[in-house]
Amino acid sequence: MFDPYSVRKDFPILERKVNGHDIIYFDNAATSQKPLQVIDAVKNFYKKYNANVHRGLHKLSQEASELYEDAHFEVAKFINANSIEEIVFTKNTTEAINLIAYSWALHKLGEEDEVLTTLMEHHSNIVPWEILSKIKGFKVKYADIKEDGALDYESLENLVTQKTKLITVTHASNVTGAINDISKIAKLAHENNAVLVVDGAQSVPHMPLDVKRLDLDFLAFSGHKMLAPTGIGVLYAKRELLENMEPFIGGGDMIRSVKYDKVKGCMIEWHTLPWKFEAGTPNVGSAIGLAEAIRYLNKLGMENVQQHERQLTQYALKLLQEDNNISIYGPKNVSTKCGIVSFNIKGMDYHDVALFLDDFGIMVRSGYHCAEPLHQRLGLNGSVRASFYIYNTKEEIERFVETLKEIENVR
Ligand SMILES: Cc1ncc(COP(=O)(O)O)c(C=O)c1O
Repeated sequence: MFDPYSVRKDFPILERKVNGHDIIYFDNAATSQKPLQVIDAVKNFYKKYNANVHRGLHKLSQEASELYEDAHFEVAKFINANSIEEIVFTKNTTEAINLIAYSWALHKLGEEDEVLTTLMEHHSNIVPWEILSKIKGFKVKYADIKEDGALDYESLENLVTQKTKLITVTHASNVTGAINDISKIAKLAHENNAVLVVDGAQSVPHMPLDVKRLDLDFLAFSGHKMLAPTGIGVLYAKRELLENMEPFIGGGDMIRSVKYDKVKGCMIEWHTLPWKFEAGTPNVGSAIGLAEAIRYLNKLGMENVQQHERQLTQYALKLLQEDNNISIYGPKNVSTKCGIVSFNIKGMDYHDVALFLDDFGIMVRSGYHCAEPLHQRLGLNGSVRASFYIYNTKEEIERFVETLKEIENVR
């Protein structure tokens, strides 16, 4: 049985009080809190194993390298990748998407080509493509969304042409929580000989995900949104794609040899996968933290995680919908939505609402949430976002909704 009350005991930060109130942390879409197990794993690494990886022959370096490689195995198993060769560690989702842009798209796309994305993307799945399009001359096209924030599949399909070489979509919106039917989009991409990039920042931490079942080409996600420390992210890519890609960043550890020849100059041979894409000293401590975070989530069971968040979201929607002063954005059916609820109180500024909530120890996000085109499309200047995770409870949602009522009364 999934028990959020026992989960909470693993998160020391939840014992804090803010302005005299028990904190309610509803900013999980920005970053999650960390359990003791992860904090201890990182501490233990620095206390017992700290050394650089893949460099020393000494015991500490061997052990650190093993732990670092194990972290790749843990990630590969978690998303059902074929092997660690398909798992590249990055800093975060943003860096993983930029890696695809500069290692794949920079070399494969030209003026005749098109990249297809959607209006529901986080800026990190818009800006890299826009920057690169200025260099390479390809066109970036945006599929529309519906009034409830869900993707308009017809619009996406209609925008696919023979020029479409890459389709890049978020799995779940970080504003409306809308979950996209990735299998359907993968089919569309592959039938049209395009590669599919999926931004999994808001899905991988919250639901079971199988890269083979979904037939993903690329998947990007961040460790810090799934209980791990900051500074570690993941790029999954099919092996054959990585094998045919140029490195992103050059430097130590991503090469097998660098030979200097007086006539020919420098001759460089890339390292094997995934190391070819991991130049320089990596974030070993955070990678070990990510492995522990995944073990923690596996023990809970990702089906249970998703189920718990659905129950919370359903409850939050029910209570919020009873208040006529509140406009909620995004689908209302929790089977097509993750644990994110964005809203506005009529006549109130979203930042004011967030500040009022903070007075009561309730942490939410306000503004565009790095998704300005989506807000623009919905005719909004911004919104308040509450996002849930494994340690949140129904009682917290009740206190949150009661506090919103108090805010409405004092304004
Ligand atoms: C859908 C989505 N994509 C990408 C990102 C970027 O993640 P990061 O800042 O960890 O790179 C976020 C962060 O909120 C997100 O919600």
